[in-house]
Formats: sequence, structure tokens, C-alpha cells
Amino acid sequence: MPRFHDLTVTAIDKTIRDAVVVTLRPPEGADFAFRPGQYLTFRRDFDGQEIRRTYSICAGADDGLLQVGIKRVEGGAFSTFANEGLRVGDRLAAMPPMGQFIVATDPGAAHRYLAFAGGSGITPILSILRTVLAREPKSRVTLIYANRGLGSIMFREEIEDLKNLHMGRLRVIHVLEHDAQEIELFTGRLTEEKCAELFARWVDVAGIDLALVCGPEPMMQSVSAALATAGVEPSRIRIERFTSAAQSGRLARPVPSQAAAAREGETRLSVTLDGATRTIEVPAGMTVLEAALAADIDVPFACRAGVCSTCRCKVTEGEVEMAANHALEDYEVAQGYRLSCQSFPLTARVAVDYDQ
Ligand code: FES
Repeated sequence: MPRFHDLTVTAIDKTIRDAVVVTLRPPEGADFAFRPGQYLTFRRDFDGQEIRRTYSICAGADDGLLQVGIKRVEGGAFSTFANEGLRVGDRLAAMPPMGQFIVATDPGAAHRYLAFAGGSGITPILSILRTVLAREPKSRVTLIYANRGLGSIMFREEIEDLKNLHMGRLRVIHVLEHDAQEIELFTGRLTEEKCAELFARWVDVAGIDLALVCGPEPMMQSVSAALATAGVEPSRIRIERFTSAAQSGRLARPVPSQAAAAREGETRLSVTLDGATRTIEVPAGMTVLEAALAADIDVPFACRAGVCSTCRCKVTEGEVEMAANHALEDYEVAQGYRLSCQSFPLTARVAVDYDQ
């Protein structure tokens, strides 16, 4: 089970006015090796209240750096602190890298990747692009990158550098909501219709091996719909969700279905963590995560919104119902994995295992 470690901040670079790239050095002996596309979960106290946030790693797997991109979101305590209060030499508590938005590279592959990023959704995509371009010399990537305007493009220079370093293998289309561009199609929001036009005139979507999508929910829905209409099978689409609501901390508590809410009596819940099992009582209407934390069991979590999958556990007995799931794939659910922050017990006995 992943644990928090104190990482030292070794550099802070402004990439745009309201975003920073933070370079971190893990402590001796802590394993922070990552796969491109993964994220770190941070923990920090603000006025006595613990806040956890996840931020994607933006460095490539071979860059020899551990770096995350943090964009300030309105009302976001952690992102504001990172942008304004964080200093080189400070320590930040973080869990080792996690996440399934990853691409397995193959040096002999000649793949065609099509990546869509919206705003700070570029962070995991950039890590993947850097790694793929370095490790697969025959692969090519098209990046469609949506932003409000020129001033809000994170990593603009780094992307240009990547283009120059891997001549002819990285094509970038900037779609800007407000700033007019020479080609009219590249101005405006990245809607389903705009994607369809891009596919018709600029991007040959039929030949792609893998599509990667990360950005705000409406953009991801539009891109997914356009890819489906263009005939790209779901197995060739990889989506990373993170919500600005999850980052800012303005989250609604998960709501149980009527069946879960109407359950009478308590559930006996067994929680296995780090090889030890404890059994606790869970009143109806309480999630597995809430019950475990209330019993002082140090189970992992971050967003509490069904987005990050940090709270993933395996249900080994009984049944639970997830109020939301934006993180687990169907095959993981079929194997019994659930998001404990979203799971309401449905049976009198439930056992969950965080070690599997
Ligand atoms: Fe993020 Fe549960 S804590 S999905």
C-alpha cells in the first residue's frame, strides 16, 4: 500500500502566469519511478484541515526528473499555495506515482498516436509524448491542444522544443477559444463538430493506433463522441479524467441510490490494509472510505470524487454500490475492484482489501 513520503522541492518554474512546474527530489530509499501518464497524490494541512490533491507528472520517463505541473484553479487552496507560497527547499508530502493512463512503449513500433489535451490536461499527455518520441523512433504523434488563448498555453516552448528535437514526428494543432488564428477552424471551442472537421481536413483518424484524451469533461465528451463517430474503437481510446471541482475542493458528497440509502441496520465491514484486517460497523448511508477513516484506518484517498482511483480496493466479500466511477475500467470492476470513496455497502457483511 502506498505511503506518503516527504519530497524536497528542488526547482519551481513558471510555465504561464497561473501555472508552475515543480521539480521534486524523493527521499533516499523511496521508490518514485513512474510510468508516463501517472500522477502524484499530495497531502498538506491548510488551517488545520488536511487537503489532498493529485497532479500529473509532466516529465518523460527517461528525463531523469520528477516534475509535476500545477495550474492554479479558482478557490483551490493547494494550487494557489503551489503557485504563490511554495519555495525551493520546501518539503511536500506525496505518495509514489499512481494511475492507469499509461502507454507501454515498444522501440520497434511504428505507431500513430493522436493526443487531445485541454488546458492543464496537457501534463500527463506531455509525459507520454516525451517518452514515446524518445523510445519509439518510428512512431508519430499528432497533438490537438485546446486552450482559451495564447497566454494560457502550458508548456508551449517545451512542445516547440520537442517538435524540433523529433523533426517531422510531432505535429501540433493549437485550438484557441478566443484568439483568432490564420486558419479559422483552429479558433473556437473544441466541440464534436470541430473535431469532425479536423478529422475531415487535417487528421487522418482512420490510421491511428491510439488516441489519448485529457482535459475538461465537456471537451473529453466531445472528443470521445467524435472519435466514436469516426469509427475509432473504444479499445484504442484512453481517457484521463480530472475535474476542476476535484482540484478546488468544492465536491458534493456522493449520494447513495434509494436501495443503498434505504438499507436498514449496520454493515460489518472488514478492511485489509498492509496485511492487517480490522472489522468495523458502517451505518447505512456511509461510504467504505468514510467508515474506514472514521475508525482511524489510514486508507489511501485523494479526490473523493470517483476521479483519481487512489482509493481503489478489492471487494472480497459482500456487495457495494458505486455512486460514481470515472476512474476504473470495466475489466477492473469485473475483477471486483471498487472506488471506496464512492462505495456504499449493500449487504450485512462486506470485506475490502487495499493490498490487492
Ligand atoms: Fe479519488 Fe476515490 S479518492 S477516486
